[in-house]
Amino acid sequence: MKVVGIVGSPRAESNTEILVQKVLEGAKSKGAEVEIFKINDMNINWCQGCFYCQQYGECKQKDDMQLIYKAIKSADALVIGTPIYMGHVTAQTKTFLDRLLAMINVFKGDSALKGKNLAIIYSQGRGNDGETVLKELGTRLSNFGMKFVGIVGGNGLNEPGAVKKKEDLLKAAYQLGTRIV
Ligand SMILES: Cc1cc2nc3c(=O)[nH]c(=O)nc-3n(C[C@H](O)[C@H](O)[C@H](O)COP(=O)(O)O)c2cc1C
Repeated sequence: MKVVGIVGSPRAESNTEILVQKVLEGAKSKGAEVEIFKINDMNINWCQGCFYCQQYGECKQKDDMQLIYKAIKSADALVIGTPIYMGHVTAQTKTFLDRLLAMINVFKGDSALKGKNLAIIYSQGRGNDGETVLKELGTRLSNFGMKFVGIVGGNGLNEPGAVKKKEDLLKAAYQLGTRIV
């Protein structure tokens, strides 16, 4: 059993990253092998919309996204974590999501994501729309065959590391991790 975590925050002491790590801890407690990627620290370019992937089954861009494709292919579950920026996922997260197209064949209705469990983590400041925004992402990825297991996140988290004081969120993230394996 392998679980891959994606962190879409650019910050050090990111609340999103802390919660994603908690999910991975929960998964590890059930015997899973885990791997985490922080998009901001990687060399990942925007999707160029060329549809090469739809014809050849792989992305034409040979950047660090290749490491993530490889990891997700061999994984049983994926954890996507993002802060809410301007009411949406961060640019880092969106770039990752766009590049996921290379794992999906929209014309054949085929998907390398099929059957993999999905957990979503978010962190936000003063807003309270994170859950709504990310539930929509969960539904979208379910349409590509993923099994959307759950979502954990909260607001009031502008301070880096603030989530360390939110026992309820830490516990919920850990429990989510035990349910995705
Ligand atoms: C550019 C930018 C846009 C933001 N937009 C929102 C927003 O629309 N709603 C909200 O509640 N918080 C917003 N925030 C606050 C972040 O979501 C919040 O600080 C979050 O907890 C950061 O997560 P991190 O600690 O994982 O980096 C924004 C922050 C930045 C830097």
